[in-house]
Amino acid sequence: MTMSDDREEFARNASKNAAALGEDKALFEQSKKLVLGLDKYDYSYLWSWMGVPIIQMPADVLATQEVIWNTKPDIIIETGVARGGSVLFMASILEMMGNGQVIGVDIDIRAHNRESIESHPMSKRVTLIEGGSVDEDTLAKVRKEIPEGARVMVILDSDHSRDHVLAECRAYGPMVTPDCYLVVADTLVGHLTEDEAPKKRSHIWFKGNEPLAAMNDYLAENDRFEIDPVINGKLVLSSSPGGYLRCTKA
Ligand SMILES: C[S@@+](CC[C@H](N)C(=O)[O-])C[C@H]1O[C@@H](n2cnc3c(N)ncnc32)[C@H](O)[C@@H]1O
Repeated sequence: MTMSDDREEFARNASKNAAALGEDKALFEQSKKLVLGLDKYDYSYLWSWMGVPIIQMPADVLATQEVIWNTKPDIIIETGVARGGSVLFMASILEMMGNGQVIGVDIDIRAHNRESIESHPMSKRVTLIEGGSVDEDTLAKVRKEIPEGARVMVILDSDHSRDHVLAECRAYGPMVTPDCYLVVADTLVGHLTEDEAPKKRSHIWFKGNEPLAAMNDYLAENDRFEIDPVINGKLVLSSSPGGYLRCTKA
Protein backbone atom coordinates (compact mmCIF):
# COMPACT_ATOMS: atom_id res chain seq x y z
CA MET A 1 0.00 0.00 0.00
CA THR A 2 1.42 3.44 -0.88
CA MET A 3 0.87 6.26 1.60
CA SER A 4 0.41 9.81 0.35
CA ASP A 5 3.14 12.32 1.19
CA ASP A 6 1.87 13.98 4.37
CA ARG A 7 5.01 15.90 5.34
CA GLU A 8 3.55 19.34 4.67
CA GLU A 9 0.35 18.52 6.52
CA PHE A 10 2.38 17.15 9.45
CA ALA A 11 4.42 20.37 9.62
CA ARG A 12 1.28 22.54 9.30
CA ASN A 13 -0.40 20.69 12.17
CA ALA A 14 2.71 20.95 14.34
CA SER A 15 2.91 24.73 13.75
CA LYS A 16 -0.80 25.17 14.46
CA ASN A 17 -0.59 23.22 17.72
CA ALA A 18 2.61 25.01 18.81
CA ALA A 19 1.03 28.44 18.24
CA ALA A 20 -2.16 27.37 20.07
CA LEU A 21 -0.09 26.01 22.97
CA GLY A 22 1.61 29.39 23.23
CA GLU A 23 -1.80 31.00 23.81
CA ASP A 24 -2.67 28.65 26.68
CA LYS A 25 -2.21 30.92 29.71
CA ALA A 26 -3.22 28.27 32.25
CA LEU A 27 -0.54 25.87 30.98
CA PHE A 28 2.02 28.69 31.04
CA GLU A 29 1.23 29.30 34.73
CA GLN A 30 1.66 25.58 35.42
CA SER A 31 4.95 25.47 33.53
CA LYS A 32 6.20 28.52 35.44
CA LYS A 33 5.46 26.75 38.73
CA LEU A 34 7.25 23.63 37.52
CA VAL A 35 10.30 25.62 36.36
CA LEU A 36 10.43 27.38 39.74
CA GLY A 37 10.23 23.99 41.47
CA LEU A 38 13.00 22.63 39.27
CA ASP A 39 15.15 25.66 40.01
CA LYS A 40 15.53 24.44 43.61
CA TYR A 41 17.81 21.82 42.04
CA ASP A 42 19.50 24.30 39.67
CA TYR A 43 17.84 22.44 36.82
CA SER A 44 19.37 24.55 34.05
CA TYR A 45 22.84 23.73 35.45
CA LEU A 46 22.40 19.95 35.23
CA TRP A 47 23.08 19.43 31.51
CA SER A 48 26.11 19.26 29.27
CA TRP A 49 26.80 19.28 25.54
CA MET A 50 29.51 16.84 24.39
CA GLY A 51 31.03 16.88 27.86
CA VAL A 52 30.86 20.63 28.56
CA PRO A 53 28.24 22.22 30.87
CA ILE A 54 25.48 24.06 28.98
CA ILE A 55 23.46 26.32 31.27
CA GLN A 56 20.14 25.94 29.48
CA MET A 57 16.80 24.18 29.73
CA PRO A 58 16.66 21.28 27.23
CA ALA A 59 13.71 22.87 25.37
CA ASP A 60 15.83 25.94 24.61
CA VAL A 61 18.63 23.77 23.24
CA LEU A 62 16.24 21.98 20.89
CA ALA A 63 14.56 25.25 19.87
CA THR A 64 17.95 26.79 19.09
CA GLN A 65 18.79 23.78 16.92
CA GLU A 66 15.55 24.31 14.95
CA VAL A 67 16.26 28.01 14.51
CA ILE A 68 19.79 27.34 13.27
CA TRP A 69 18.73 24.61 10.85
CA ASN A 70 15.81 26.64 9.49
CA THR A 71 17.75 29.89 9.04
CA LYS A 72 21.28 28.67 8.23
CA PRO A 73 23.27 31.56 9.72
CA ASP A 74 26.90 32.04 8.70
CA ILE A 75 27.68 33.72 12.01
CA ILE A 76 26.11 33.17 15.43
CA ILE A 77 27.10 35.67 18.11
CA GLU A 78 26.44 34.70 21.71
CA THR A 79 27.02 37.06 24.61
CA GLY A 80 27.54 34.99 27.76
CA VAL A 81 29.82 31.98 27.24
CA ALA A 82 30.17 30.76 30.84
CA ARG A 83 31.59 27.19 30.74
CA GLY A 84 31.23 26.94 26.97
CA GLY A 85 28.48 24.38 26.41
CA SER A 86 26.20 26.67 24.44
CA VAL A 87 28.85 27.95 22.03
CA LEU A 88 30.08 24.38 21.49
CA PHE A 89 26.53 23.12 20.96
CA MET A 90 25.89 25.70 18.24
CA ALA A 91 29.33 25.05 16.74
CA SER A 92 28.39 21.34 16.53
CA ILE A 93 25.22 22.11 14.60
CA LEU A 94 27.17 24.37 12.24
CA GLU A 95 29.83 21.68 11.82
CA MET A 96 27.17 19.13 10.83
CA MET A 97 25.73 21.68 8.40
CA GLY A 98 29.21 22.31 7.01
CA ASN A 99 29.27 26.08 7.39
CA GLY A 100 29.46 28.85 9.94
CA GLN A 101 31.23 30.26 12.96
CA VAL A 102 30.14 31.01 16.53
CA ILE A 103 31.50 34.16 18.15
CA GLY A 104 31.35 33.86 21.93
CA VAL A 105 31.65 37.06 23.96
CA ASP A 106 32.17 37.04 27.71
CA ILE A 107 33.53 39.57 30.19
CA ASP A 108 35.32 36.79 32.09
CA ILE A 109 36.58 33.73 30.21
CA ARG A 110 38.28 31.75 32.94
CA ALA A 111 41.41 29.80 31.99
CA HIS A 112 39.85 26.38 32.70
CA ASN A 113 36.71 27.25 30.67
CA ARG A 114 38.83 28.54 27.78
CA GLU A 115 40.79 25.27 27.96
CA SER A 116 37.55 23.19 27.77
CA ILE A 117 36.45 25.15 24.71
CA GLU A 118 39.77 25.39 22.90
CA SER A 119 40.59 21.69 23.34
CA HIS A 120 37.14 20.54 22.19
CA PRO A 121 36.59 18.77 18.83
CA MET A 122 34.17 21.58 17.84
CA SER A 123 36.52 24.42 18.78
CA LYS A 124 37.46 25.27 15.21
CA ARG A 125 34.00 26.80 14.75
CA VAL A 126 34.26 28.97 17.88
CA THR A 127 35.94 32.37 18.16
CA LEU A 128 36.17 33.71 21.72
CA ILE A 129 36.25 37.42 22.48
CA GLU A 130 36.85 38.48 26.07
CA GLY A 131 35.33 41.80 27.11
CA GLY A 132 32.17 43.55 28.25
CA SER A 133 29.58 42.80 25.58
CA VAL A 134 28.63 46.43 24.95
CA ASP A 135 32.11 47.93 25.28
CA GLU A 136 33.11 49.70 22.08
CA ASP A 137 36.34 47.73 21.64
CA THR A 138 34.48 44.43 22.09
CA LEU A 139 31.89 45.47 19.52
CA ALA A 140 34.65 46.47 17.09
CA LYS A 141 36.24 43.00 17.51
CA VAL A 142 32.87 41.32 16.95
CA ARG A 143 32.15 43.36 13.80
CA LYS A 144 35.59 42.44 12.42
CA GLU A 145 34.61 38.75 12.59
CA ILE A 146 31.50 39.21 10.43
CA PRO A 147 32.22 38.76 6.72
CA GLU A 148 30.47 41.03 4.21
CA GLY A 149 27.05 39.65 3.32
CA ALA A 150 26.99 37.05 6.13
CA ARG A 151 23.69 35.86 7.60
CA VAL A 152 23.89 36.71 11.30
CA MET A 153 22.03 35.34 14.35
CA VAL A 154 22.49 36.71 17.89
CA ILE A 155 21.82 35.25 21.34
CA LEU A 156 21.95 37.57 24.35
CA ASP A 157 22.72 35.57 27.51
CA SER A 158 25.10 37.66 29.60
CA ASP A 159 24.24 40.24 32.30
CA HIS A 160 20.46 39.99 32.66
CA SER A 161 19.76 43.48 34.03
CA ARG A 162 17.24 45.50 32.00
CA ASP A 163 19.69 48.27 31.09
CA HIS A 164 22.42 45.88 29.98
CA VAL A 165 20.09 43.74 27.86
CA LEU A 166 18.58 46.86 26.28
CA ALA A 167 22.09 48.13 25.48
CA GLU A 168 22.89 44.71 23.98
CA CYS A 169 19.67 44.75 21.91
CA ARG A 170 20.64 48.17 20.56
CA ALA A 171 24.25 47.13 19.85
CA TYR A 172 23.67 43.62 18.46
CA GLY A 173 20.10 43.88 17.08
CA PRO A 174 21.29 45.80 14.00
CA MET A 175 23.81 43.00 13.25
CA VAL A 176 20.99 40.44 12.84
CA THR A 177 20.11 39.91 9.18
CA PRO A 178 16.62 39.39 7.70
CA ASP A 179 14.99 36.03 8.49
CA CYS A 180 17.60 35.28 11.15
CA TYR A 181 16.91 35.41 14.90
CA LEU A 182 17.71 37.57 17.88
CA VAL A 183 17.27 35.46 21.01
CA VAL A 184 16.83 37.31 24.30
CA ALA A 185 17.56 34.73 26.98
CA ASP A 186 16.10 34.47 30.48
CA THR A 187 12.87 36.31 29.72
CA LEU A 188 11.11 34.02 32.21
CA VAL A 189 12.23 36.20 35.12
CA GLY A 190 10.05 38.97 33.66
CA HIS A 191 7.06 36.80 34.60
CA LEU A 192 8.15 36.44 38.24
CA THR A 193 7.41 38.58 41.28
CA GLU A 194 10.18 39.50 43.71
CA ASP A 195 8.95 36.70 46.00
CA GLU A 196 9.06 34.11 43.21
CA ALA A 197 12.47 35.14 41.80
CA PRO A 198 15.28 32.59 42.37
CA LYS A 199 17.48 33.82 45.22
CA LYS A 200 20.55 31.63 44.72
CA ARG A 201 22.05 33.57 41.80
CA SER A 202 24.84 36.13 42.09
CA HIS A 203 22.21 38.71 41.08
CA ILE A 204 18.50 38.57 41.75
CA TRP A 205 16.38 39.67 38.81
CA PHE A 206 12.62 40.12 38.83
CA LYS A 207 9.90 41.92 36.89
CA GLY A 208 11.12 45.30 35.66
CA ASN A 209 14.88 44.83 35.89
CA GLU A 210 15.34 41.83 33.63
CA PRO A 211 15.56 40.75 29.95
CA LEU A 212 11.81 40.75 29.17
CA ALA A 213 11.51 44.41 30.17
CA ALA A 214 14.48 45.24 27.92
CA MET A 215 13.10 43.17 25.04
CA ASN A 216 9.71 44.87 25.23
CA ASP A 217 11.35 48.31 25.22
CA TYR A 218 13.48 47.30 22.24
CA LEU A 219 10.49 45.92 20.32
CA ALA A 220 8.65 49.20 20.97
CA GLU A 221 11.46 51.34 19.59
CA ASN A 222 12.11 49.47 16.32
CA ASP A 223 10.03 47.38 13.94
CA ARG A 224 12.58 44.89 12.61
CA PHE A 225 11.66 41.97 14.88
CA GLU A 226 8.61 39.87 15.61
CA ILE A 227 8.04 37.28 18.33
CA ASP A 228 7.87 33.93 16.52
CA PRO A 229 4.58 32.40 17.73
CA VAL A 230 5.50 28.85 16.73
CA ILE A 231 8.97 28.44 18.20
CA ASN A 232 8.01 30.35 21.37
CA GLY A 233 4.65 28.62 21.61
CA LYS A 234 6.06 25.13 22.09
CA LEU A 235 8.92 25.88 24.50
CA VAL A 236 6.92 25.19 27.72
CA LEU A 237 9.85 24.41 30.06
CA SER A 238 12.07 27.28 28.99
CA SER A 239 14.15 30.08 30.46
CA SER A 240 13.32 32.29 27.51
CA PRO A 241 9.59 32.24 26.70
CA GLY A 242 8.79 34.81 24.01
CA GLY A 243 12.50 35.54 23.60
CA TYR A 244 12.94 34.09 20.09
CA LEU A 245 12.60 37.08 17.75
CA ARG A 246 12.63 36.78 13.96
CA CYS A 247 14.17 39.63 12.00
CA THR A 248 11.62 40.63 9.39
CA LYS A 249 13.41 43.40 7.50
CA ALA A 250 16.80 44.82 6.55
C1 LIG B 1 24.09 32.72 32.08
S1 LIG B 1 25.81 32.68 31.81
C2 LIG B 1 25.88 32.17 30.12
C3 LIG B 1 25.46 30.76 29.92
C4 LIG B 1 25.82 30.17 28.56
N1 LIG B 1 25.24 30.92 27.48
C5 LIG B 1 25.35 28.74 28.47
O1 LIG B 1 24.28 28.49 27.88
O2 LIG B 1 26.05 27.84 29.00
C6 LIG B 1 26.22 34.38 31.80
C7 LIG B 1 27.64 34.76 31.41
O3 LIG B 1 27.61 36.16 31.10
C8 LIG B 1 28.86 36.72 31.42
N2 LIG B 1 28.70 38.19 31.56
C9 LIG B 1 28.19 38.88 32.62
N3 LIG B 1 28.22 40.19 32.37
C10 LIG B 1 28.73 40.35 31.13
C11 LIG B 1 29.01 41.47 30.30
N4 LIG B 1 28.77 42.73 30.72
N5 LIG B 1 29.54 41.26 29.08
C12 LIG B 1 29.81 40.00 28.66
N6 LIG B 1 29.58 38.91 29.40
C13 LIG B 1 29.05 39.07 30.61
C14 LIG B 1 29.27 36.01 32.70
O4 LIG B 1 30.69 36.07 32.86
C15 LIG B 1 28.72 34.60 32.47
O5 LIG B 1 29.73 33.75 31.98
